[in-house]
Amino acid sequence: MNAPERKPVTLHRLRAMHAAGEKIVMLTCYDASFARLCDAAAVDVLLVGDSLGMVLQGHDSTVPVSLDEMAYHTACVARGNRHAWIVGDLPFGSYQASAEQALLGAVRLMQNGAHMVKLEGGGWTAETVRFLVERGVPVCGHLGLTPQSVHALGGYRVQGRDDQAAATLLRHARELADAGASMLVLELMPSSVADAVTTGLSIPVIGIGAGAGCSGQVLVLHDMLGITRGRLPRFVRDFMAEGGGVEQALRRYVAAVRDGSFPVGGTHTY
Ligand code: KIV
Repeated sequence: MNAPERKPVTLHRLRAMHAAGEKIVMLTCYDASFARLCDAAAVDVLLVGDSLGMVLQGHDSTVPVSLDEMAYHTACVARGNRHAWIVGDLPFGSYQASAEQALLGAVRLMQNGAHMVKLEGGGWTAETVRFLVERGVPVCGHLGLTPQSVHALGGYRVQGRDDQAAATLLRHARELADAGASMLVLELMPSSVADAVTTGLSIPVIGIGAGAGCSGQVLVLHDMLGITRGRLPRFVRDFMAEGGGVEQALRRYVAAVRDGSFPVGGTHTY
């Protein structure tokens, strides 16, 4: 007997997974071929991340990425995808000026195939999130290390280490959820802080370098396939290292996030 056809992942499905304590598997993706492979491996969420500025374009940060480029890659991913939920990153400079500017950017990404948009930062972003959500745009927040602010943060450093910074992160997370964000990415922070955010919110929290307690995990595709060269952050695991091809590596990642064996406390966490 054939396996039942996989249903498209919706916001409703992501909420149900979260409510049932099922881990959500997210992975960055930038083109149709990889979208097809990730989708076949049953990745739940494809993030068209502005990390493409670094892994595809060779920049040393995400700052130079434009909305046109994000729209192009979002359309590529959408063409290769059949089931996964697609999140498109609003790039630097495309949402900071006003909520209206953010809406125009979100419309662009959604008209190119995104189901949800992601924007970085806390505090002032809550009003923008509310504005977008009220106009029918599902929004994912992004707190902790927010790479578009790398120059303001003084580098790619672990965030929320002291009590005050941790309390601010928690407050910002609550404000985003209250404003209607339906998902939150937490990047590079102590597991204890990410755990407090995850248990304090009723929306799924997806971690990258934020410990095993989050509702799901995300990695940059080129990092987890062992393509990225140079020193990698310790939260990265190379899923190609055990051999086999790309499809097997993707399946190993999906299985490891689902069964909680990735990330490993102490090895991939802070
Ligand atoms: O752009 C990206 O890939 C991201 C992830 C690091 C979460 O935002």
